[in-house]
Amino acid sequence: MSRITTLGEFIIKTQSQVSYSTGELSKLISSLRLAAKIVNAEINKAGLVDDILGKAGDTNIQGEDQQKLDVYANRKFIDSVEAREITCGIASEEEDSFIAFDSPQCRNGKYVILIDPLDGSSNIDVNVSVGTIFSIYKRVSPVGEKAIIEDFLQPGNQQVAAGYFIYGSSTMMVYTTGNGVNGFTFDPTIGSFFLSHPDMRIPEEGSIYSVNEGNYPFFSQGVRDYLKNIKQNIPLEGKPYTGRYIGSMVSDLHRNMLKGGLYMYPGTTSKPNGKLRLCYECNPMAYIMEQAGGVATDGNQRILDIVPTELHQRAPLFLGPKKMVAEIESYLTR
Ligand code: AHG
Ligand code: MN
Ligand code: MN
Repeated sequence: MSRITTLGEFIIKTQSQVSYSTGELSKLISSLRLAAKIVNAEINKAGLVDDILGKAGDTNIQGEDQQKLDVYANRKFIDSVEAREITCGIASEEEDSFIAFDSPQCRNGKYVILIDPLDGSSNIDVNVSVGTIFSIYKRVSPVGEKAIIEDFLQPGNQQVAAGYFIYGSSTMMVYTTGNGVNGFTFDPTIGSFFLSHPDMRIPEEGSIYSVNEGNYPFFSQGVRDYLKNIKQNIPLEGKPYTGRYIGSMVSDLHRNMLKGGLYMYPGTTSKPNGKLRLCYECNPMAYIMEQAGGVATDGNQRILDIVPTELHQRAPLFLGPKKMVAEIESYLTR
């Protein structure tokens, strides 16, 4: 693929790599692309339009303030996949429970989707990059029937596709269907995504660490020892690690994927499972990270092997290049 390749062309060309594909997965990914373009346009206006900034005045099921753009993005992604009638259901971070689409066409859909429609939304008001994270599974319930909770509570190792959109200095889509990770940059003058980052691999030698270090006093002894040690015993032959933390998981991970770095959201004394949602954030990012040559763990086990019991459950997360994750793991087990 030496010439310019659009996302649409890439999806079609690589469809055959997914052995069971009938084009349904491709259509599903295309519908997400459309919703992301709409959300992207709205995010770009956020500084100009008063009524889309700030809080929507409601809280989601997890007790967090919903930002207006959270609500907007949630609606757009749900409407977009429902309108195309290519999935039997969706679960969103912003919804109390999963939504099973009822039309006969939707009931025939083979896949379910899980989504964090707007990740890092508290950063919109301050003009910092945000994102969307998605994850796609084959349903376990019979095709033709309504989707059930078990379709959504599958371990991450059952994902057939996962990806994210990053609404940053440029807008990108990065995704995997289990054959490596590819990144596409949006050209707003044409309205298309173009393949800009083929076969993304996380550098093996990372030197960035990303963590909300304000939580330091509440981390486990192992995490604190690790953080203390990388500052006191300079790890890279006299050159210290670089600390980088945006507070938008998509942006933090995207940077670390390109530059090489460890991202973590460990548990704290009051929140032993941390903050990040297993099904909407940890699993898709873990799948992408593994496909890019890295690893993802909750400190005890591979993220992708955790069997979820609740849609909105949280998990501690450590992910990045193998060496860096192994280094922090050695502290966690002490
Ligand atoms: P969301 O906006 O979807 O609720 O996600 C916010 C998440 C994630 O993007 C980020 O890494 C993390 O929250 C930041 O949390 P802290 O502010 O506690 O560091
Ligand atoms: Mn999020
Ligand atoms: Mn969110």
